Amino acid sequence: MSDHILVEIEAGVMTLTFNRPDKKNALTDGMYKVLADSMAQAEADPAIRAVLFKSSSPAFSAGNDVSDFAAQNSSGDTSRDASERPAGERNVTRFLKALARAEKPLVAAVQGLAVGVGTTMLLHCDLVYVSPEAKLTTPFVGLALVPEAASSWLLPARIGHARAYAMFALGEAMMGEEAVTTGIANKCLPTDEVVAAALAAAQALAKRPIGALKVTKRLMRDADKIAELMDIEGRYFGERLQSAEAAEAFAAFFQKRPADFSKVG
Ligand code: COA
Repeated sequence: MSDHILVEIEAGVMTLTFNRPDKKNALTDGMYKVLADSMAQAEADPAIRAVLFKSSSPAFSAGNDVSDFAAQNSSGDTSRDASERPAGERNVTRFLKALARAEKPLVAAVQGLAVGVGTTMLLHCDLVYVSPEAKLTTPFVGLALVPEAASSWLLPARIGHARAYAMFALGEAMMGEEAVTTGIANKCLPTDEVVAAALAAAQALAKRPIGALKVTKRLMRDADKIAELMDIEGRYFGERLQSAEAAEAFAAFFQKRPADFSKVG
């Protein structure tokens, strides 16, 4: 399992590689743990000056593993947010909060599919490089869920309400070139150049004065507000995970059929 996230540190850059190609890099609890632990290490270690997210296969990430969602649907555990869990924060929450609170630069290379958190995490990255085949989707409503990672605010703020609503509610996709024109990504490059460009950018950032970078980022975004919104979204998300609508959506996914919400909700 630990191989599902590869962690490398070189020349001041921590590279986190999604490496679960058979499941299109769907993220499990164990993968969130490695991501959250690594990001904590990156913030604490002065030798690490930038973090790069990439994937070992064309799909960046298919989002949260739907099996984990389905398990929560039947467990009665509505506490996606940290404060309600006696055992402490969920690893997904630790990862999202690490994105919210990261002071060091975050860079992403997206060559293909980016679903759910695979897209919403990009809203926390400081530089994003995509290919024309990059396909960003946030199909929360189709799974009877709600937006997370503070995307309910960050996405419409970045791309406008109408486009964001169509992505959330209708599952409309955004391809790489549009991700650049809407301000989610910096550059759209041929697929085989995306990772190299992102790595070069991370390496360039690693040579910049880290103190100035940190304060610049602090001035550019309200980390407290973002983290607070994640808690609010998390409460709704936890409730939605328990719903009959979500049970139907997860069953439909595993049975490889369209969901039928006409008799639930
Ligand atoms: N959770 C669990 N398994 C997933 C997954 C996810 N989020 N996304 C893909 N997989 C699995 C598929 O079940 C399939 O497994 P199998 O080979 O055992 O049947 C394998 O990964 C390959 O996926 P497949 O659907 O065959 O690939 P595709 O290219 O046709 O479609 C997706 C890729 C990502 C569009 C499609 O798999 C999908 O919609 N996944 C769900 C995405 C999602 O809803 N994520 C949560 C967002 S909140």
